[in-house]
Amino acid sequence: MLRTLTALTAGVSLFVGSSLFARAFGQERSTDISPQQKLTQRRTRRSIPRPTNLQVLPKDIAVPDLLALMRGYTAALGVECELCHAVDPKTNKTNFASDAEPDKAIARIMITMTKEINSKYLSQVNDPDATPADKTVTCGTCHRGNSMPMPFAASKSHAHHEAKEDSGKKPD
Ligand code: HEC
Ligand code: HEC
Repeated sequence: MLRTLTALTAGVSLFVGSSLFARAFGQERSTDISPQQKLTQRRTRRSIPRPTNLQVLPKDIAVPDLLALMRGYTAALGVECELCHAVDPKTNKTNFASDAEPDKAIARIMITMTKEINSKYLSQVNDPDATPADKTVTCGTCHRGNSMPMPFAASKSHAHHEAKEDSGKKPD
């Protein structure tokens, strides 16, 4: 995966920089890239102008780092750029600076929320066994490839299994 991504970006140092940055922002590193996502990457690598409407990400972010984050969002949510970015009906081109797509506003809240979960709360957890990645929430932690996180319900058989295990334990 490392090699594929390296080939897709301009060079090794660029990849390392992007991935470090992505990690700092609690961003998912995608393990697999579908042909559809490769197409998206090729399409969007061309002519991305300097950002003009960043409100939560650092305004001086390098464009390759910004795009690495954005690709992470599409992978974590299993969507295309256009879930959050409005397409201009006249030109049929994606207007990345536009705020017309309501999901973009939700995503801004999510970016801030994810950053705070990591910096305010997980940073306080003292678990010597945990690696830095273990203590980092990403978009994918909740979304798991879905634009709406799936509701969780514990399976009955698993609950039963745990109850059996517990009953065997002596109280401490
Ligand atoms: C889950 C929502 C989401 C997805 C999917 C997404 N983006 Fe974004 N994008 C955002 C948000 C939110 C911002 C604004 C961040 C801010 O305000 O700091 C943004 C900003 C940008 C900007 C800067 C625009 C400007 O001028 O300010 C570019 C360029 C961009 N995205 C490209 C992409 C590309 C290319 C893709 C697909 C590979 C993509 N985005 C997928 C949410 C998303
Ligand atoms: C702690 C869990 C959690 C994390 C982490 C998280 N999300 Fe979410 N996200 C949710 C929940 C729950 C919803 C459903 C909220 C709603 O729409 O009522 C949601 C909804 C969304 C939606 C709206 C989806 C839709 O179809 O309306 C977008 C877009 C989104 N998240 C983007 C992101 C991005 C981008 C990140 C990472 C920066 C992220 N989320 C991280 C829990 C999370």
